[in-house]
Amino acid sequence: MEKKSWLCTILLLASACFASGAATGREGYVSAVGDPGMRRDELRLALESWNFCNEVGREAPSMGSPRVADCFDLKQISPASPVADDDECNEGAYEVIHRVTEHDNELGVGDPFPGAKNLDNVDLYAAEKEIYLGNKCEVKEEDNSTWQYWMIMLKNGNMDTSASLCPRDGVPVDPFPPEQRFPCFAPGKCMNHPLVLHNYTSFADDDLLRGSFFGTWDIDADLAEGTYNISYYSVTWEKELHEGGWEFHHVLKTSKKYPWLMLYLRSDATEGYSGGYHYPTRGMTKNVPESPNFKVRVRLDIKKGGGPKSQFYLMDMGSCWKNNGDPCDGNVTSDVTRYSEMIINPETQAWCKPDQLNNCPPYHTFANGTRVHRTDTSRYPYGAYHMYCCPGNAEHLEEPFNICDQYSNPQPQEILQIVPHPVWGEYGYPTKKGEGWVGDPRTWELDVGGMSNNLYFYQDPGTTPVKRWWPSLDVGTEIYISNEDQVAEWIVTTSVAEASDLRDEMSKERIMNRFAMYNPRALIMTICDKLPKICHAKGSSPGHDCCKKRCVDAKTDTLNCGECGKKCHYGQACCGGKCVNVMYDHKNCGGCKKKCKKGSFCKYGMCSYA
Ligand SMILES: *[C@@H]1O[C@H](CO)[C@@H](O)[C@H](O)[C@H]1NC(C)=O
Ligand SMILES: *[C@@H]1O[C@H](CO)[C@@H](O)[C@H](O)[C@H]1NC(C)=O
Ligand SMILES: *[C@@H]1O[C@H](CO)[C@@H](O)[C@H](O)[C@H]1NC(C)=O
Ligand SMILES: *[C@@H]1O[C@H](CO)[C@@H](O)[C@H](O)[C@H]1NC(C)=O
Ligand SMILES: *[C@@H]1O[C@H](CO)[C@@H](O)[C@H](O)[C@H]1NC(C)=O
Repeated sequence: MEKKSWLCTILLLASACFASGAATGREGYVSAVGDPGMRRDELRLALESWNFCNEVGREAPSMGSPRVADCFDLKQISPASPVADDDECNEGAYEVIHRVTEHDNELGVGDPFPGAKNLDNVDLYAAEKEIYLGNKCEVKEEDNSTWQYWMIMLKNGNMDTSASLCPRDGVPVDPFPPEQRFPCFAPGKCMNHPLVLHNYTSFADDDLLRGSFFGTWDIDADLAEGTYNISYYSVTWEKELHEGGWEFHHVLKTSKKYPWLMLYLRSDATEGYSGGYHYPTRGMTKNVPESPNFKVRVRLDIKKGGGPKSQFYLMDMGSCWKNNGDPCDGNVTSDVTRYSEMIINPETQAWCKPDQLNNCPPYHTFANGTRVHRTDTSRYPYGAYHMYCCPGNAEHLEEPFNICDQYSNPQPQEILQIVPHPVWGEYGYPTKKGEGWVGDPRTWELDVGGMSNNLYFYQDPGTTPVKRWWPSLDVGTEIYISNEDQVAEWIVTTSVAEASDLRDEMSKERIMNRFAMYNPRALIMTICDKLPKICHAKGSSPGHDCCKKRCVDAKTDTLNCGECGKKCHYGQACCGGKCVNVMYDHKNCGGCKKKCKKGSFCKYGMCSYA
């Protein structure tokens, strides 16, 4: 199974079925978020883009609010033949019916839509748009268990310090001068969103469904210098009709101006105040996994790691509860976002050490329940923790401690970052550096519920321990401020390996080749309506004119000759923006600018003499 590097599985398992399903039939699993193995041909997928403090801040020009969705159903348009028994040819034909239209996706602040109340507030507008799109993707209640919802999350670490957009530990602050940690290349320009380009899911051929989101943050890049040095992201999803599961191929590239970028694929169960936001958001998964009784199966194939500062999360869990254990309610001074992250980049060191206790949670709890304090140097597993930091509003912290980044979320946060270590082996997590890293694709079966139940999270003394629930579970990377452009590339698929093993070699080859690798040229080919100057990119653009989203040279393009959409007839060429018949045109005989000498004439594309 390991050799099928392009296969992955992500699957949330409900507790009740785990014991029986683990060893044998995969069919025995019941997924906590529906559609085990994600084999359903129809998809519910959305994208949200955040800025530093999880706000929109500013929409990218002509992109609309950065909440978009690709949700579709399939409609059979010709039935399978009742007599043919060849499976290959007996699927009937299907049509993709999108539930979210281009108009919906392009809604931007100020544009009304049903349910929109805050037309002028860019942050609240995005939250309301998300709910609106979510409603359009909603499935019937009785179908809860057979659907899975995915959120692609993008985040840009540049921070507009001068605009005071981010609160500090949930408390509004005055603008402060730019600081090195938060690159800001021009006032008011550093917290923009990326271009979000969307290839709606469609049939790439008879039996292959494919779609993608892609774009760049460098919307004001000097494209004359070419596109190879701009930031880039793409997520391409692909599935064969009636076979296997969806495969998600991710690419993330940083640039000089955007050295701190994040891209995650999240099983999205957020609803209400889920952490990271201070307004209700919309996730579409119905059952939020709760510790300790759930597992996650994920297969991850990392092609490129994203450099030494890539915090590649095998699993990143997020939730929100107050220090006294109460649920979050949108009050940013008392809500606390909690994260736990397993970083599998082997270059990530354990900062928690006997002489750096501030990076260690106060105690470690072994799987058997034994609790060890961080001062117990003979028993505490220092090497298991990269870093621990406390919420800035906690009142009873044990010295020494670090307060978490006070700006990156609207509310205070608590983060526990772990690295591969034998103590995590009991939960199915990596135990050694390099496990699951580049060249070592693996299927993981993680006892996320069991482990998260034993992790340390701060709570006020004497309060009832909170029931830990995890509305967000994601896989992906945060490339933290990198000195040079870094590229991360990875595949998460939801297909069940066994089923996909049945595919023939040719089919595998075909699918691999189809994934769009890092390809800034694709930007040039598809977005000039949004960004006309991209057609001026040196060396990589076919021309300076933009027709139907594509850069062309209207002086020579026979499909857009002189103006967009003006097609030349058969036998004609486009010369200097005019359709000419090169068979008989003595100025363009056999080709543009091939002039016949005086006294000769043009016949069949050749200059002849009478
Ligand atoms: C589907 O989910 C909704 C909302 O969580 C719930 O009220 C309903 O009972 C569920 N239906 C089934 C059949 O499980
Ligand atoms: C989007 O579709 C266009 C046209 O089919 C294709 O050239 C391009 O590679 C696609 N982009 C991605 C990122 O898949
Ligand atoms: C731009 O990218 C190319 C190709 O990766 C690289 O060779 C070149 O050094 C980069 N230029 C700059 C200015 O970073
Ligand atoms: C938010 O929480 C703080 C701290 O508990 C409290 O003082 C404040 O009154 C709360 N604000 C609102 C609007 O409830
Ligand atoms: C629990 O596990 C730890 C680590 O394996 C071990 O040191 C300890 O003795 C165990 N405690 C009990 C009560 O079994």
